[in-house]
Amino acid sequence: MERKEFMSLVGISVGAVILQNCLSGCSSKSDPTPSGGTGGTTTNPTSTGFTGNAASSKGTIDFTIDISTSDYATLKTNGSALVVGDVIVARTKAGNFIALAKACTHEGTTINFVADDNKFRCPNHGSEFSTTGAVLSAPASSPLKQYTATFDSASNKVAIK
Ligand code: FES
Repeated sequence: MERKEFMSLVGISVGAVILQNCLSGCSSKSDPTPSGGTGGTTTNPTSTGFTGNAASSKGTIDFTIDISTSDYATLKTNGSALVVGDVIVARTKAGNFIALAKACTHEGTTINFVADDNKFRCPNHGSEFSTTGAVLSAPASSPLKQYTATFDSASNKVAIK
């Protein structure tokens, strides 16, 4: 085999390998991870400042958090959010409290709060939910459960049920 013929075959082989890698990589790649939003820190719902039940496996969701305590102080700030048990508690930029089930109805990923857009977004496949839990963007097709969140500014406590 002459050098020119050899180099030609090597070039074709390398090109085929590169093409194969690109095609297999492109076909198996999932959607880019959507960014934005915050879910705050998952808080141990037995800590100081917490009373009640935040685990749906233990019955009805019904709890109170004291945002003057360190574990829940994140929620003193407008535009923040905190995951408490199975619930994401968010405080809008206007200062209103929202409580929704934290698990995306598509595949269960914990959602984030996007304060700038006043909505919730799943970091897994990008489903979006309104402040009432309604689906704004697929792939999720079912709404998130909404809880009532009531803030008592005198005691700094938020009641969720
Ligand atoms: S798990 Fe939330 S969009 Fe898929």
